[in-house]
Amino acid sequence: MAFTRLSAILSVALAATQVCAVPAKRVTCKTGQVTANAACCALFPVVELMQDQLFDGSECGEEAHSALRLSFHDAIGFSLRGGKGGGADGSILAFNKTENAFHANGGIDDITDGQFPIFLQSGLSAGDFVHLAAAVGTSNCPGAPRLEFMFGRPPPKAPAPDLTVPEPTDTVTKILERFADAGFSPPEAVALLSSHTIAAADVVDVTIPGTPFDSTVGTFDTQVFLEVLLKGKLFPGNGSQPGEVLSPLAGEMRLQSDFRISQDPRTACFWQAMVNNQELMIAEFRAAMSKLQVLGQDKSRLIDCSDVVPVPKSFTGNIKFPATFSRKDVQIACPLLPFPNLATVAGPAPTIPPVPGS
Ligand code: HEM
Ligand SMILES: *[C@@H]1O[C@H](CO)[C@@H](O)[C@H](O)[C@H]1NC(C)=O
Ligand SMILES: *[C@@H]1O[C@H](CO)[C@@H](O)[C@H](O)[C@H]1NC(C)=O
Repeated sequence: MAFTRLSAILSVALAATQVCAVPAKRVTCKTGQVTANAACCALFPVVELMQDQLFDGSECGEEAHSALRLSFHDAIGFSLRGGKGGGADGSILAFNKTENAFHANGGIDDITDGQFPIFLQSGLSAGDFVHLAAAVGTSNCPGAPRLEFMFGRPPPKAPAPDLTVPEPTDTVTKILERFADAGFSPPEAVALLSSHTIAAADVVDVTIPGTPFDSTVGTFDTQVFLEVLLKGKLFPGNGSQPGEVLSPLAGEMRLQSDFRISQDPRTACFWQAMVNNQELMIAEFRAAMSKLQVLGQDKSRLIDCSDVVPVPKSFTGNIKFPATFSRKDVQIACPLLPFPNLATVAGPAPTIPPVPGS
């Protein structure tokens, strides 16, 4: 009977699935941790070294933020058409004298100087070091996804050329073209900008180093997607600077690029969809980061060592409007999507403090 044959086929198929579902062999390292691949054991002591020496004891502070920015500025030195660098190869660390001089890398010497001695101690290639540091630093921020880490990048051959890193003064068209040239779609570009939820500016306005892009700079939440949409009313420092537009809150900086991307018809709905949707944001950020972290690399030669990355604390619950703000202050640029109902923090409008150590 057809039914018997079908169920026989199904049970064979099921048996096959079960064979495939047998868990991969796990390895217990000499240091006690368990990983999927013995080659990853070498990384646990490096993770510890980073947490201790680079991230002030597993903090989501200035160094963790900068390590994530560094991974972007390293990796985006790449073009699908060639001629723009080796991508996620660590060239920004190994050739820091050259790449630090590029205008878009302003302020990045703090983190390359901080990482360099620890990189030398680690024994890793510069690419593995930069992208492991970004995954570990980000894991210190509550709410963040546990990023992947692929191990085995060869040493970088040469510095990336100038003008691969987008600037906050660039038009949306120019920014989206640069992302597309490196292999990222507009929704992926917006997903990568989730990083600005744990970000601050040191050099956009040099009179106010460490000025955050949202009111919760130590948490990987969706707050930045909300606050960039609020009506701007002030400049937090010495007036208007190139790449800066009016911000809604004292002590907070708004990048012109973030604002324009939040309002542009090509990206506005992807931007608004992130507001108070933590799961969407972390899933899309993680997926886009997985591409970014191996741009230009031969993936068949890398080993998946994602299980050396610490598991971040989760962020649950709803985000809120900063005190005194409400729905009427939102500059809606995606009328197609309903805007989430959010409560407002009690009290007077806040002044956002700078990130310590900036
Ligand atoms: C449209 C593209 C982007 C532009 C124009 C841009 C621009 C900027 C600027 C101007 C700053 C402040 C620098 C300073 O004054 O110190 C900054 C900080 C930062 N950016 Fe971006 N960015 C972009 C995309 C990204 C991406 C894709 C990532 C990561 C995946 C990223 C991660 C960060 C982080 C973490 C910081 C904070 C660094 C710190 O607090 O030390 N950015 N970005
Ligand atoms: C990179 O920075 C470190 C520390 O500041 C320095 O010792 C090293 O020589 C630099 N390398 C290059 C190629 O600029
Ligand atoms: C403040 O901005 C003005 C005008 O842009 C500039 O001339 C001045 O040097 C700035 N002050 C400081 C302390 O940077």
